Amino acid sequence: MELDAMPTSFKVVIPQFGPAETLEIVEAELAAPADNEVQVEGMFASINPIDVKTRAGLGWAAQSNKDNLPWTPGYDLVGKVLAVGDSVSGFSIGDHVVGFIGFPLEAGAYAQRLNVVSQELLKVPNSITFEAAAALPLAGLTAMQAVQKASIEPGQSVLILGGAGGVGHIAVQLAVATGADVYTTCGATNLDYMATLGATAINYHVAPASQQLQGIDVLIDLIGGDVALDAMKCLKSGSRVITIPTITADKIKAEAENIGVTAEGMLVEPNTEQLTTLLNMVGDGSLKIDIQTVFSMADVVKAHQQVETGHTRGKVLLDLSH
Ligand SMILES: NC(=O)c1ccc[n+]([C@@H]2O[C@H](COP(=O)([O-])OP(=O)(O)OC[C@H]3O[C@@H](n4cnc5c(N)ncnc54)[C@H](OP(=O)(O)O)[C@@H]3O)[C@@H](O)[C@H]2O)c1
Repeated sequence: MELDAMPTSFKVVIPQFGPAETLEIVEAELAAPADNEVQVEGMFASINPIDVKTRAGLGWAAQSNKDNLPWTPGYDLVGKVLAVGDSVSGFSIGDHVVGFIGFPLEAGAYAQRLNVVSQELLKVPNSITFEAAAALPLAGLTAMQAVQKASIEPGQSVLILGGAGGVGHIAVQLAVATGADVYTTCGATNLDYMATLGATAINYHVAPASQQLQGIDVLIDLIGGDVALDAMKCLKSGSRVITIPTITADKIKAEAENIGVTAEGMLVEPNTEQLTTLLNMVGDGSLKIDIQTVFSMADVVKAHQQVETGHTRGKVLLDLSH
């Protein structure tokens, strides 16, 4: 391991819960990596809705971290290895790595330099851009785990609410790959985009999903709340719901019981095998990643405001180099 004594790193912190403008960039010393850690120069992080909700003080991650501020958000990291701990094998200085890091409580990816447990990292394959790799961990694993949980059979009809977002655009492609007929809801500007991914798109501004679709076998809900409750009216009996937003999961499960369908919530789990599969799918062209905007770290407030609109297509990234 080779490192200067105690380097410093710029990182974004949530000093207290509040609007996007509360985010601050601070400089802090960084210890040498522990035996099982790799020190990484951050290149890209992605912004997920959970980062934004936590910053606002909402949801389970905010609840768990309320006594732990200032706290650096970010679970999706791509960077370059600067140093490796003494017991780490498989990584060398200069390797480009990607990881779903510190989930759920530590996070920390919005940083120019950080120490990461080596088991959370993979090398970025040469066949994929650093930006696409950074977009994948949390959103890609959520999409893959949701589609697997849904046990979709070829020929079944699947409705995905919110198909144009970070999780949605990946879930649509994975569901199409199962051989299902995939329907998805989006606004007018995303109708054509959804068609390019192989889904039949429904404009939710024209009428609620329940007035446009019937006889659905599987609902993958990425929106939650009243939108999901309405979409449950599209289901045939015996169908399944996978509801992803944790805040309204109990409400959706209660309604499922009322109408005689099964519903499950889920919390994404780190899984390096699945992440490897996703990276390879992007590399061989069978999965397309859409990146709406890359903001510089200095513009982290704007990046949070964009995700907070709830209308991002694909993913928003932070360029950690400036
Ligand atoms: N449980 C877990 O482990 C887990 C993991 C990941 C994400 N999540 C949650 O899952 C949700 C989706 O995450 P994400 O990263 O995909 O969010 P996102 O990228 O912010 O989603 C944005 C998309 O939502 C669409 N949208 C907004 N309102 C809609 C509506 N009423 N009907 C249909 N589409 C609508 C927008 O499309 P238009 O612009 O066309 O409206 C936009 O493309 C979030 O609540 C997130 O916190 C949970």
